[in-house]
Amino acid sequence: MKFGSSILLAALGLFNAVRGDAVPWERLSKNDSMLLILDLQVGLYQVARDWDPTLYRENVMAHAELGKVFDLPVVMTTSAQQGPNGPLPKEILEMYPDAPLIKRQGEVDAWDNADFRAAIKATGKKQIIIAGITTDVCTAFLALSLRAEGYSVFANIEASGTYSQLVRDTANSRMQQAGVQLVSMFAIVCDLMRDWRNVPGAKEVLPYLDKYLPVYGYIARGHAAAIANGSVIPGEAGLI
Ligand SMILES: *[C@@H]1O[C@H](CO)[C@@H](O)[C@H](O)[C@H]1NC(C)=O
Ligand SMILES: *[C@@H]1O[C@H](CO)[C@@H](O)[C@H](O)[C@H]1NC(C)=O
Repeated sequence: MKFGSSILLAALGLFNAVRGDAVPWERLSKNDSMLLILDLQVGLYQVARDWDPTLYRENVMAHAELGKVFDLPVVMTTSAQQGPNGPLPKEILEMYPDAPLIKRQGEVDAWDNADFRAAIKATGKKQIIIAGITTDVCTAFLALSLRAEGYSVFANIEASGTYSQLVRDTANSRMQQAGVQLVSMFAIVCDLMRDWRNVPGAKEVLPYLDKYLPVYGYIARGHAAAIANGSVIPGEAGLI
């Protein structure tokens, strides 16, 4: 009985270890990562119906600007942009005039394109930050291909879009099972920054958050206003 239980416990322990090791926790590092701007095309934007469209445009720009804030290598790619999918927004193209832009003529999964694979390999980075339209096709196909090739993939869930919440959730779950890390823009920013005292740190990151995450930017505004010109009014003093 005792012997049987220890075997059972050992087996369970092994099971847990295997499960726990399946997707080891890994931190995103600005030294090891690159940013992918994948099929965030003006035509495909119409398909991203799981977001409020105004918010989604901001999320896409926030994703693109991560490369600027953290000086990451950027690779851009588009799917059949000569057709209805259209080009990348001009703001993104202007952001990265010198970054590789691989215009895939037909391949749906960007990994099927040799120029794209070469552009990724040329960065020498192993952590890939990804977002695309659509979540279930462009993002998931490439994320799964990258995982199969041994890359670490961090999917910015706020900058991918698709045509329904069910499709979005199913695609995210599929990616997660393959070890793709599903992360928010704020999680990406904070992991890349690591410490407010770093460079980039508070000085570079707060203006970015003010632009793209006003719930945090406005905290900074309120705090700055209070320090510069504010005073504690009756009722507040006892709160701190
Ligand atoms: C990135 O590299 C620099 C220089 O080698 C090092 O000081 C820093 O700790 C590294 N940061 C991370 C997050 O690994
Ligand atoms: C804050 O106070 C300074 C001087 O104490 C003044 O010059 C400035 O106009 C004030 N700013 C605001 C927004 O009230």
